[in-house]
Amino acid sequence: MSRILITSALPYINGIKHLGNLVGSMLPADVYARFKRAQGENVLFICATDEHGTPAELAAREAGQTVEQYCEEQHEIQKKAGAEFGLSFDHFGRSSGPENERFTQHFAWALEDKGLIEERTDKQIYSIDDQRFLPDRYVEGTCPNCGYEKARGDQCDNCGTLLDPTELKNPYSAISGSKNLEVRETKHLYLLQSKLQQRIADWVAAKEGWPSLTKAIANKWIKEGLQDRSITRDLYWGVPVEKNGVPRPGFETKVFYVWFDAPIEYIGATEEWANAGAGRDWRQWWRLDAGAEDVTYVQFMGKDNVAFHTVSFPCTILGSEEPWKLVDTLKSLNWLTWYGGKFSTSQKRGIFMDQALELLPADYWRWYLMANAPESDDTSFTLEHFASVVNKDLADVLGNFVNRITRFCASKFGEAVPEGGAYGETEEKLIAELDGKIRAYTEYLEAMEFRKAFAELRGIWVAGNEYLQVAAPWTAFKTDPERAAAAVRAGLNLIALFAALSAPVVPHTAEKMFAVFGLDAKEAGAWPKSAKAALAFLKAGHKLTLPDVLFKKIEDEQVAEWREKFGAPAE
Ligand code: MF3
Ligand code: ZN
Repeated sequence: MSRILITSALPYINGIKHLGNLVGSMLPADVYARFKRAQGENVLFICATDEHGTPAELAAREAGQTVEQYCEEQHEIQKKAGAEFGLSFDHFGRSSGPENERFTQHFAWALEDKGLIEERTDKQIYSIDDQRFLPDRYVEGTCPNCGYEKARGDQCDNCGTLLDPTELKNPYSAISGSKNLEVRETKHLYLLQSKLQQRIADWVAAKEGWPSLTKAIANKWIKEGLQDRSITRDLYWGVPVEKNGVPRPGFETKVFYVWFDAPIEYIGATEEWANAGAGRDWRQWWRLDAGAEDVTYVQFMGKDNVAFHTVSFPCTILGSEEPWKLVDTLKSLNWLTWYGGKFSTSQKRGIFMDQALELLPADYWRWYLMANAPESDDTSFTLEHFASVVNKDLADVLGNFVNRITRFCASKFGEAVPEGGAYGETEEKLIAELDGKIRAYTEYLEAMEFRKAFAELRGIWVAGNEYLQVAAPWTAFKTDPERAAAAVRAGLNLIALFAALSAPVVPHTAEKMFAVFGLDAKEAGAWPKSAKAALAFLKAGHKLTLPDVLFKKIEDEQVAEWREKFGAPAE
């Protein structure tokens, strides 16, 4: 048994996440965690809300709450939605907790000890009416690149250009709208990433197994050359710039930049997890001097996060020269788009996790999103495509299979696995076919190539249906009941096999499938190794309970209603 640490990029606290965020990191991370657990590995799956920075302060202000209250409430909302989606985090933490504060300060001063931190004077926009600096998103104005009038200080939402607030034309305060602004000097801590160029380049170069998207993005940043970056901000909400509880002189009203503390929360959340249960030790997962050499660490994230995880966070870790565990594999994903456009939290465009669950149970979404994961390219979400995939794959193929064979068994043989009849040539053929497909499916999951993996899984379900078509127990029953009994026994065993194979992606459905046979998903869900053993798993006489219909088809009227509700553009 090996130990596998899995983290998903931490969702921002400012509002519940949309389907694009979900499939961009949390969901694929969950699928992988479930797969690895089924293989018997010792998995620790960590996530948290990313709570600091201007987005949180601004959203709290808009909600009329203190930022502390706002974060507390939003954390609970995201935690609940994640649980309902079946995201099987071992811990879902909070970057604003004391653990992360301690680690963040620890790293900053360790970096300073190594000569990698420098105080520099910066020019920043100061709002005279608001009596404060306006970092990042606190200032808005016209994009110097495309002319968009509501560009934010850190980035233009229209053309995507990364900006410095002082570059905006006609800047105004996002708090008061005031244009009474001036540029003032302010001191900040800089992390001297340029000094780490060679070390990061060597480290990335050695990562031959990284997926191509990850590697391409990392190399692009390394080629451009690592830039020193400011890791503090003139803000209230964040990790205070303190050492042993004492503010650094001149930094009393400043905090660490959210992108400095957020990835450190992977460690912070692991300590939160450890503090929440007996016999848990975060060091075993993170400290090479406490056994973490044996850990394989896999990160999941959207492509916009890759630079932070391949360059910035490794700078923090490597620069400290302390024995911390670094990531082994990074799986990054492209964008899911809403009808070819952007899902947007600030503009409430698209479908959000809570809304999705009001329409349909989690597994419908989980299947669609993973089978169409934006891996090699951005992928367009449309309700029409969603409905057609659900109807075909889940209702017609998987749901129908389970329904058909259980009902036929109950009507002809009673509610138990039938006796008699040996497996013959048709079953041998099925076993050979399944073995090949299970091997391919397992390899794709191993490689985190989810689209390909789930195309194989669909193929496995189809093979089951085709088997029933050929074995035709309904016809055989009249002339050769022994043959029919064998086919039904095989069919019922396929349900249990499909449940085990499908559990990483549709865990709630897998539980229902196991429940047909009174099996506990945890016990029966071990990763199947051979189709032959799987088809001999349920013995004659094993009782069954007829399941409800697993998946309902989505009707055209529902699609029309949802299009209206979510303001879907024409296809
Ligand atoms: N909150 C960031 C985003 O949604 C991701 C932070 S990942 C972390 O883009 F590791 F830095 F926390
Ligand atoms: Zn622009």
